[in-house]
Amino acid sequence: MKKIIVVLGSPRAESYSTYLANIAVDYLKEVDVEVEIFDLYKMEIEACIACDECRKNSGNFCVQDDDMKKMYKKISESAGLILACPIYWFTINAKMKLFIDRFYGFHTEKTELLKDKRIGVILSYGDVDPYKSGAINAIRTLEDSFEYTKSYLCKIVYGTELKTTERKPDNKINKDIIVMVKELCGN
Ligand SMILES: Cc1cc2nc3c(=O)[nH]c(=O)nc-3n(C[C@H](O)[C@H](O)[C@H](O)COP(=O)(O)O)c2cc1C
Repeated sequence: MKKIIVVLGSPRAESYSTYLANIAVDYLKEVDVEVEIFDLYKMEIEACIACDECRKNSGNFCVQDDDMKKMYKKISESAGLILACPIYWFTINAKMKLFIDRFYGFHTEKTELLKDKRIGVILSYGDVDPYKSGAINAIRTLEDSFEYTKSYLCKIVYGTELKTTERKPDNKINKDIIVMVKELCGN
């Protein structure tokens, strides 16, 4: 069975990015795709220390003993990832950036473990404009990152945060999530 890893990067109980990610999760379950969800705010993920041990022939991805060890294994076994996070200070928030920085210890020129991996992205922000909000910076960062890793970046879904009362199944963004998920599944 195909497995998709969903990585949540919001600390908020009423998080909009998590709400959107859950639409993806529900659809994946409907089409019999196995899903595993990870909440970055409940995980211990240190910053990359640039020791470059991962570039030596030690056989280990990274010398740091934290939750990324588990994530490296999970990512390798998965068909794809969904990354969902808020925009903080005009780009992806720090928790998501820490997580992505640590791909350095995983995807090397030798291992190419993210090559062809399907990646879906969900971004939520407070401003009404994707340029002014900084979502555009996040999009550029993610496009450049996953071009570098030769991954398959699916449709990036982004939008202004809606209050819980405004979150409706027929909102365009909900439909965009399904388009992204179908692409993630290779349809
Ligand atoms: C520390 C912090 C920084 C933020 N910076 C921005 C920003 O640069 N641009 C923006 O449009 N919204 C910004 N916001 C608003 C969030 O992006 C917005 O509330 C988002 O929908 C939160 O996503 P979530 O509901 O998934 O947590 C910021 C919020 C916080 C707490």
